[in-house]
Amino acid sequence: MLGQLFVLLLLKSPVLSCMFQPAHNSSSIYRCYIHEGEPVFCKCPPVPSVDSNITWFRNGSQTAISTDTQEKIFQENGYLKIIPARRDDNGFFTCVFQNAEGCQQHIIELNVFQNDDGLCYNFKMLYPFEYFQSESITIQCPDIQAYNIAAKSAKWYKDCKPLNLAGGRSKYYISSNNELNINNVTKEDSGNYTCETSLMHRGTEYKITRSMNCIITATPEARKSNIIYPTNNYLSVELGAPLTLTCKVEESGRGITIVFWNYSDDERVIEGTNENIVTADGKRFVYHNLTFLSVKEEDYNQKIVCEAGPIDADSSEAYVILKYPDPNFQGPLIAIFAVGAFFIITSLIVVKFFKVDIVLWYRSSLFSRPHLNDGKAYDSYIMYPKNATGNSSYEMDLFVLKILPDVLETQCAYRLFIIGRDDLPGQAMADVVDEAISQSRRLIIVLGNVSNESTLGEDFEQKIAMYDALIRNKLKVILIELEKITDYSCMPESIKYIKQKQGVVRWKGEFTEASLSPNTRFWKNIRYRMPPAPRQSDSELHYIYTED
Ligand SMILES: *[C@@H]1O[C@H](CO)[C@@H](O)[C@H](O)[C@H]1NC(C)=O
Ligand SMILES: *[C@@H]1O[C@H](CO)[C@@H](O)[C@H](O)[C@H]1NC(C)=O
Ligand SMILES: *[C@@H]1O[C@H](CO)[C@@H](O)[C@H](O)[C@H]1NC(C)=O
Repeated sequence: MLGQLFVLLLLKSPVLSCMFQPAHNSSSIYRCYIHEGEPVFCKCPPVPSVDSNITWFRNGSQTAISTDTQEKIFQENGYLKIIPARRDDNGFFTCVFQNAEGCQQHIIELNVFQNDDGLCYNFKMLYPFEYFQSESITIQCPDIQAYNIAAKSAKWYKDCKPLNLAGGRSKYYISSNNELNINNVTKEDSGNYTCETSLMHRGTEYKITRSMNCIITATPEARKSNIIYPTNNYLSVELGAPLTLTCKVEESGRGITIVFWNYSDDERVIEGTNENIVTADGKRFVYHNLTFLSVKEEDYNQKIVCEAGPIDADSSEAYVILKYPDPNFQGPLIAIFAVGAFFIITSLIVVKFFKVDIVLWYRSSLFSRPHLNDGKAYDSYIMYPKNATGNSSYEMDLFVLKILPDVLETQCAYRLFIIGRDDLPGQAMADVVDEAISQSRRLIIVLGNVSNESTLGEDFEQKIAMYDALIRNKLKVILIELEKITDYSCMPESIKYIKQKQGVVRWKGEFTEASLSPNTRFWKNIRYRMPPAPRQSDSELHYIYTED
């Protein structure tokens, strides 16, 4: 609605360089409205300081408007005055003035209107006013200060009918010259109100009227404010740290929302002011800070309360309680993990390098189980190429028939089956081998660089053994290289397979006394691959038994 009767700011004016010269092409236009026949005082917006020199021109004219108050149109005290205004006064005026920014001008459009047919107002010119239903309201006759009218009560109309203001005890009464009071306001009091006063000028009284559209709406329900923060909870904070708590409140339907913290001292704990924020979806929030320069011991474990509410409704409250931060477990935890990881890695390294020793030590300790009683007669069946020739044949026989039994049998109390030593003459080789292998817990294969004719795997004995070890998967195989074998290509597939799966133990010793100690690396590796050795006591018993 075009509410502002006198001036309506549309656009900001540009700064022009002018020396009280009217300009014609300014883009700033303001409006000045008046009912026909009434005196109009147009203001030059925005209001410059009282003593600034304002000069009015009719638009397009180089001649300033007269300052002679006897004229119908004149300028006085910065106002353009037309007494009375007529329809043919409609048009554009320019006011030029000096301010801090220099010389400026505004263009004002004068609009002299008439009432709508049969009405005491023009509905386009109504001032819109909105009131809440309540005990009483006050309606002011707007925009008449400029006339500086001496104390004289305005006449009031509602929907163009005069109001009965008699006695001052009625529903309607005048509280001051230009104010109308209404008691026990209901929606029925909505309507188009008109106030009417007058101005004496050069002996003539000129009527001045203003009309307003007053809408009375129901008072919105007073709701409690909704405090979004704090949330009646704990907040961890370091002693001595600065802290800002922000009470966040969603405003209820009406009125000013008061928000405050009940915990401030103006020096260390400082309360902020309300910051109002309207979100895009029209919700209204108030933020209210409480700033601790540094948190002190006395601040902990206290209910620090934010209260919020409209003035005339119950307030809401919510608190936050400061607590010391949780102890930091991170450092110690990392240390524990680091130490743990170190021990695990160290253990893995130790186990990897000393696996053999550890297993042998365990077997020799009191914790180990007694010797396996699986009904087998031999701890290992020894397989070796018997038809070797030359030097390697001698070393092979020495190793298999002398050194192996010396260490494993005599010193470690194992029982071995060696073909050529333990088979009785006349027995069928197949039966012997089959029987011996099924009675053995391990199969030791001794490899040497042997001539082609006696290659391993050509003997049917060996085929049976391989069959047992690989196909029936009963036997664990221990491969011993007596000398470094560089070329496995002439070895049977089964040997290559075993070497790949289980590796070999290489004999590095000389054939000397020292290499006969079961505690050399070579023998430890063999013993590790062998089943647990019988205890000394067991073996003694065994020998006693066998000697019987
Ligand atoms: C207004 O104009 C008068 C006369 O021209 C001059 O003396 C006075 O200083 C001016 N005032 C301002 C504020 O410019
Ligand atoms: C007040 O004026 C407006 C605008 O002309 C009109 O719509 C409304 O009905 C009027 N109110 C009354 C109570 O006459
Ligand atoms: C703030 O209010 C809470 C709850 O009413 C109260 O426990 C607390 O002591 C108050 N704090 C101060 C500083 O008054």
